[in-house]
Amino acid sequence: MVKIKVEGHEEFSAAIGMRLVNAIEAHGIDILHRCGGNARCTTCRVAFNAGEPDRMTAAEKAKLAEKGLTDVRLSCQVLCLEDMHVTVINRLASSGLPDPGGKCEAHITPDPIWETK
Ligand code: FES
Repeated sequence: MVKIKVEGHEEFSAAIGMRLVNAIEAHGIDILHRCGGNARCTTCRVAFNAGEPDRMTAAEKAKLAEKGLTDVRLSCQVLCLEDMHVTVINRLASSGLPDPGGKCEAHITPDPIWETK
């Protein structure tokens, strides 16, 4: 298990290798994931306060570059492999949307090609 701290919430434990978006949601935090965890929407983005992984999927890298996003990561493309402290950017409660988005599979989609950050 690793320790996950989401800003504004108590720290919780997550299984090693769990997708970060799923760990956050399983803890009852209403993070958005509009594209169902496929590195397309960027609504699952988080800012890392500590424990940011050095590697990222090619899909995440491309999407962040396309959108010009810096200093954030897509939690659907991050695995819980070490202790992390993050701030969730987009919450259902403040979105006006009817639901957080499609279910994110247990494994990273699309199939990850790992690159350095
Ligand atoms: S980019 Fe859409 S859920 Fe992560």
